[in-house]
Amino acid sequence: MYSKEVMDHFMNPRNVGEMPDADGVGVEGNPVCGDVMKLYIKVEDDKIVDAKFQTFGCGAAIAVSSMITEMVKGKTLDEAMKISKEQVAEALGGLPPQKMHCSNLGADALKKAIEDYRQKQQASKN
Ligand code: FES
Repeated sequence: MYSKEVMDHFMNPRNVGEMPDADGVGVEGNPVCGDVMKLYIKVEDDKIVDAKFQTFGCGAAIAVSSMITEMVKGKTLDEAMKISKEQVAEALGGLPPQKMHCSNLGADALKKAIEDYRQKQQASKN
Protein backbone atom coordinates (compact mmCIF):
# COMPACT_ATOMS: atom_id res chain seq x y z
CA MET A 1 0.00 0.00 0.00
CA TYR A 2 3.02 2.28 0.27
CA SER A 3 4.91 3.40 -2.83
CA LYS A 4 8.51 2.34 -3.24
CA GLU A 5 9.64 5.94 -2.67
CA VAL A 6 7.86 6.00 0.70
CA MET A 7 9.45 2.68 1.67
CA ASP A 8 12.86 3.88 0.53
CA HIS A 9 12.71 7.14 2.50
CA PHE A 10 11.33 5.30 5.52
CA MET A 11 14.00 2.58 5.46
CA ASN A 12 16.87 4.96 4.56
CA PRO A 13 15.83 8.40 5.73
CA ARG A 14 18.02 11.23 4.44
CA ASN A 15 19.23 14.09 6.61
CA VAL A 16 18.25 12.69 9.99
CA GLY A 17 19.57 14.34 13.11
CA GLU A 18 20.18 17.56 14.90
CA MET A 19 21.80 20.65 13.38
CA PRO A 20 23.38 22.56 16.27
CA ASP A 21 24.29 25.57 14.10
CA ALA A 22 20.95 25.79 12.28
CA ASP A 23 19.83 29.22 11.06
CA GLY A 24 16.17 28.37 11.49
CA VAL A 25 14.25 25.70 13.40
CA GLY A 26 10.59 24.76 13.03
CA VAL A 27 8.63 22.41 15.26
CA GLU A 28 5.22 21.16 14.28
CA GLY A 29 2.87 18.75 16.02
CA ASN A 30 0.17 16.83 14.20
CA PRO A 31 -3.15 17.45 15.94
CA VAL A 32 -4.57 14.28 14.38
CA CYS A 33 -2.15 11.86 16.02
CA GLY A 34 0.19 13.81 18.30
CA ASP A 35 3.31 13.08 16.26
CA VAL A 36 6.00 15.77 16.17
CA MET A 37 8.56 16.91 13.65
CA LYS A 38 11.50 19.25 14.11
CA LEU A 39 13.10 20.69 10.99
CA TYR A 40 16.41 22.57 10.82
CA ILE A 41 17.62 24.74 7.95
CA LYS A 42 20.92 26.31 7.07
CA VAL A 43 20.62 29.44 4.91
CA GLU A 44 23.14 31.25 2.74
CA ASP A 45 22.31 34.20 0.45
CA ASP A 46 18.60 33.60 0.88
CA LYS A 47 18.95 29.96 -0.21
CA ILE A 48 18.55 26.80 1.84
CA VAL A 49 21.88 25.03 1.62
CA ASP A 50 21.20 22.25 4.11
CA ALA A 51 18.29 20.75 6.03
CA LYS A 52 17.92 18.12 8.73
CA PHE A 53 15.05 16.66 10.69
CA GLN A 54 14.09 14.79 13.80
CA THR A 55 10.67 13.20 13.68
CA PHE A 56 8.84 11.37 16.40
CA GLY A 57 6.18 9.84 14.24
CA CYS A 58 4.92 7.11 11.97
CA GLY A 59 6.66 5.71 8.91
CA ALA A 60 4.82 8.04 6.53
CA ALA A 61 5.85 11.07 8.62
CA ILE A 62 9.47 9.95 8.50
CA ALA A 63 9.31 9.50 4.72
CA VAL A 64 7.70 12.96 4.37
CA SER A 65 10.39 14.53 6.56
CA SER A 66 13.17 12.85 4.62
CA MET A 67 11.72 13.88 1.26
CA ILE A 68 11.11 17.50 2.22
CA THR A 69 14.68 17.95 3.49
CA GLU A 70 15.85 16.74 0.07
CA MET A 71 13.37 18.95 -1.82
CA VAL A 72 14.34 22.20 -0.09
CA LYS A 73 18.07 22.07 -0.67
CA GLY A 74 19.10 24.70 -3.21
CA LYS A 75 15.72 26.45 -3.10
CA THR A 76 15.32 30.11 -2.21
CA LEU A 77 13.33 30.84 0.92
CA ASP A 78 10.41 32.09 -1.18
CA GLU A 79 10.41 28.94 -3.30
CA ALA A 80 10.64 26.72 -0.22
CA MET A 81 7.75 28.61 1.40
CA LYS A 82 5.53 27.51 -1.50
CA ILE A 83 6.16 23.77 -1.12
CA SER A 84 2.83 22.21 -0.27
CA LYS A 85 2.06 18.99 1.52
CA GLU A 86 0.46 17.76 -1.71
CA GLN A 87 3.75 18.27 -3.57
CA VAL A 88 5.65 16.32 -0.94
CA ALA A 89 3.12 13.49 -1.07
CA GLU A 90 3.32 13.53 -4.85
CA ALA A 91 7.12 13.38 -4.80
CA LEU A 92 6.76 10.29 -2.66
CA GLY A 93 4.56 8.64 -5.26
CA GLY A 94 1.46 9.32 -3.19
CA LEU A 95 0.33 8.35 0.29
CA PRO A 96 -2.59 6.13 1.22
CA PRO A 97 -5.69 8.31 1.90
CA GLN A 98 -5.71 7.52 5.62
CA LYS A 99 -2.08 8.66 5.79
CA MET A 100 -2.46 12.00 3.99
CA HIS A 101 -2.61 13.82 7.33
CA CYS A 102 0.96 12.64 7.97
CA SER A 103 2.15 14.93 5.18
CA ASN A 104 0.96 18.01 7.12
CA LEU A 105 3.99 17.96 9.36
CA GLY A 106 6.65 18.49 6.71
CA ALA A 107 5.40 21.60 4.94
CA ASP A 108 4.25 23.21 8.19
CA ALA A 109 7.52 22.58 10.03
CA LEU A 110 9.40 23.96 7.02
CA LYS A 111 7.34 27.17 7.02
CA LYS A 112 7.99 27.60 10.72
CA ALA A 113 11.73 27.10 10.23
CA ILE A 114 11.76 29.78 7.52
CA GLU A 115 9.76 32.15 9.71
CA ASP A 116 12.15 31.46 12.57
CA TYR A 117 15.10 32.31 10.33
CA ARG A 118 13.46 35.51 9.13
CA GLN A 119 12.62 36.61 12.65
CA LYS A 120 16.20 36.04 13.75
CA GLN A 121 17.44 38.08 10.77
CA GLN A 122 15.05 40.87 11.66
CA ALA A 123 16.12 40.77 15.31
CA SER A 124 19.80 40.96 14.41
CA LYS A 125 19.15 44.09 12.33
CA ASN A 126 17.51 45.93 15.22
FE1 FES B 1 1.08 10.72 12.98
FE2 FES B 1 1.48 9.73 10.65
S1 FES B 1 0.28 8.86 12.22
S2 FES B 1 2.15 11.63 11.40
